[in-house]
Amino acid sequence: MHRLLTKPVFFVGFMGAGKTSVAQCLSHDLGLPAADVDEVVVDSAGRTIATIFAEDGEEAFRDLESAALAALAQSYPKLVSCGGGIVERTENISLMRQHGFVVLLDVSAQEAASRVGGDPDRPLFAEAGAARALYERRASLYEKAAHIRVATTGHTVEEVAGCVREELVTAGVLH
Ligand code: S3P
Repeated sequence: MHRLLTKPVFFVGFMGAGKTSVAQCLSHDLGLPAADVDEVVVDSAGRTIATIFAEDGEEAFRDLESAALAALAQSYPKLVSCGGGIVERTENISLMRQHGFVVLLDVSAQEAASRVGGDPDRPLFAEAGAARALYERRASLYEKAAHIRVATTGHTVEEVAGCVREELVTAGVLH
């Protein structure tokens, strides 16, 4: 089924919220293009996220991430999954809200840890205590970025994608 997006849809939320899986599921169901900010960063840098963090540090990663987001925002509308830290820069929040529709996928700290805790390619989730502090610090940033918020804890990817789809139609972003 081919549908039309009137503007890019940006998926934000903590690591493990299911941003990439939900965007992929919707892309498949609706025949819409999808892109992933982390993937653009990795492709353009030719290195994994863990390697970029280890060799150049987090700020360098954030620069690449902002550049990838800006490029995706200017391209034709698609379903864009963002890394969990996209909200760390105010300019990224402004850009997403100005150019698109921002969907916050909400996940509990516990569920996030059980989904992706210990993943070697998520350097900021290497240690559970630090990840918890990050989760708490970021809550208000996600709120600030989001046009809508969808719960994921205890739901399958398909259920979450169905819910997002309804919300996008209601908001006039998906025709
Ligand atoms: C990060 C989340 C990761 C990735 C990087 C930093 C973060 O993406 O961008 O490891 O700061 O929360 P996911 O949210 O897709 O895991």
